[in-house]
Amino acid sequence: MSELRITGGNRLGGAVTVHGAKNSVLPLLAACVLCQGECVLHRCPALSDVASSVAILRHLGATVTVEGDVITVNAAHVTQSDIPEDLMRKMRSSIVFLAPLAARTGCADVSLPGGCELGPRPIDLHIAGLRRLGADIADGHGRLRCTVSPRFTGTDYTLPFPSVGATENLLLAAATADGTTVLTGAAREPEIFDLIAFLNAAGARITAKPDALVIEGVPALHGCEHTVIPDRIEAATYLAAVAVTGGTALISPVVPEHLAAVLPLFRECGCHLKAWGDSLLLTAPPRLNHLKFVRSLPYPGFPTDAAAPLLAAMTVADGVSVFAETIFENRYRYVDELARLGAAVKTEGRVAVVEGVPRLQAAAVECTDLRGGAALVVAALAANGTTCLTQCHHLDRGYAGLCEMLNALGAQADYAS
Ligand code: EPZ
Repeated sequence: MSELRITGGNRLGGAVTVHGAKNSVLPLLAACVLCQGECVLHRCPALSDVASSVAILRHLGATVTVEGDVITVNAAHVTQSDIPEDLMRKMRSSIVFLAPLAARTGCADVSLPGGCELGPRPIDLHIAGLRRLGADIADGHGRLRCTVSPRFTGTDYTLPFPSVGATENLLLAAATADGTTVLTGAAREPEIFDLIAFLNAAGARITAKPDALVIEGVPALHGCEHTVIPDRIEAATYLAAVAVTGGTALISPVVPEHLAAVLPLFRECGCHLKAWGDSLLLTAPPRLNHLKFVRSLPYPGFPTDAAAPLLAAMTVADGVSVFAETIFENRYRYVDELARLGAAVKTEGRVAVVEGVPRLQAAAVECTDLRGGAALVVAALAANGTTCLTQCHHLDRGYAGLCEMLNALGAQADYAS
């Protein structure tokens, strides 16, 4: 979609249906390459990144059908061991095809991935870990050639940083490795455990201990059926959208523990939140209070992806809020666009200081990345007048049915043709 127009000022209310998690379905689709049978994935969001993963699977020789939110993948016959650059460049998570493709065919020849420009997006942790699992990786000229003969070899390995993507690649390498792998220092995000649940349903033998992931390699994986966990970042984004308008909404399904570091911040800024089962009811005050200090951290800390929409809500809060980003080098590219709406945000490296203003004023703004675009949507909902957002393809990567969902909540949003 080219340009999204949002007229601010409406108080949002109603119900939000949360989709399956983008950052879970993408590694799950890559994991299907390991499965020599039919995999059925339920609650798959209709996102451009999902379409990109389906295109990669089809290129590799898998048959894939998409019916509503159900994706069926049969990778019984993987015929290719390369992924073309144009497919790899569409997103960051294409790199998670590296290990399953090498494990399945003995070789993976891929280009470096694309993805949101949040600073350098290196893959050194992926490469170092896969080499320790026995891979021979030649990298150069923007491409990687990963070969294992005949398969990965289990070993003990400690990740120097709990990289989500690197943890996913190492799990996918270890699942059918020769021997057992003990991973310490791994990421513990909910999406990691969703991948582990999928792999175990496909015949893997992975155990999550308090301080390590233990993967006993098995000869092969079969097909399975799995439902993707709800998207905690989408849920946090809609919480911010409703809260900034002083609205009330029911958000479900959610897994409350996945939002354990998020919900207290909405309470701190004045929202009333009731959680029961897989539902959340948020009621916001007419004006939010500021947030003293928000620091993003690896899970179970506050998720970096939820910071941008929350920061946008703080641009019209009462008082000064401070955000510190510890995961990515340059997560504030969207702040200049917020300034066009009248926001008063000062950034210094990984710190942003947000001085709440009484009201934002509509303007023409450009989405810089997925979550930066979400921040602009949240800000536009609170601005006087009609804001026009361009470069909306960034939003299509992570928010299925965004315009329809906003309007169902009482917003005024439409796509300019
Ligand atoms: C995943 O990215 C998510 N993407 C990101 O969500 C999320 O922000 C991030 O994890 C952190 O939670 C997907 O799952 C598709 P990392 P990933 O490897 O795997 C550095 C969104 O908006 N690093 O945990 O790329 C890296 O530069 C996206 O949905 C290395 O130095 O994140 C970053 O500073 C944005 N070397 C930090 O680690 C490596 O080899 C975290 O990266 C890998 C990473």
